[in-house]
Amino acid sequence: MASMVLVAGAVVTLWALASPSRDVVGQLVSWSEARWTELRAWYISQPLDGELEWDTAQLQVRGADAAQGPALMVAYGCGSCHVIPGVSGARGTVGPSLTRFGERAYIAGILPNGPGTLTNWLINPPLYAPQTAMPDMGITQEDAEDMAAYLLALGHDR
Ligand code: HEC
Repeated sequence: MASMVLVAGAVVTLWALASPSRDVVGQLVSWSEARWTELRAWYISQPLDGELEWDTAQLQVRGADAAQGPALMVAYGCGSCHVIPGVSGARGTVGPSLTRFGERAYIAGILPNGPGTLTNWLINPPLYAPQTAMPDMGITQEDAEDMAAYLLALGHDR
């Protein structure tokens, strides 16, 4: 959504700058500036740069069962690459430690951390970070949501 707004804004700005009529240019530039201001306000209003409020996050991973997280992470072999508190044998060092992951502002330094972004990241990491060593493991939406709910709780109640 954010990237669509950004792309639309950029296209309109470029088109406006190339347009011959000054009135039209002025109107379109201020229109795209208004869109940009909205997008910025939306981004700043996200709670995720600050303290993630666990009750809110838990509500947002709709229908997820965080208690399933550890068993799923064992089954998917996440521990071969990550240290994950509460997950048996999770001592891998290929990826970053997921200790206190719920307090992290960003996922892999690129996606604001939250229920939706984390679920999407788990399902298809290379979509967001093409060079990443974390593979697409064919994780289902439901399993990703359960694991995301567990990871978002790390650092809050665990
Ligand atoms: C083959 C190794 C590998 C496996 C298996 C793997 N990951 Fe990762 N993971 C990585 C690497 C490497 C990164 C760092 C990604 C980057 O920065 O591009 C990462 C990043 C992450 C992040 C973001 C961490 C941060 O510090 O922002 C999360 C969360 C995560 N992995 C969860 C999982 C879960 C859950 C599983 C199992 C379903 C899993 N990973 C399986 C290698 C792996």
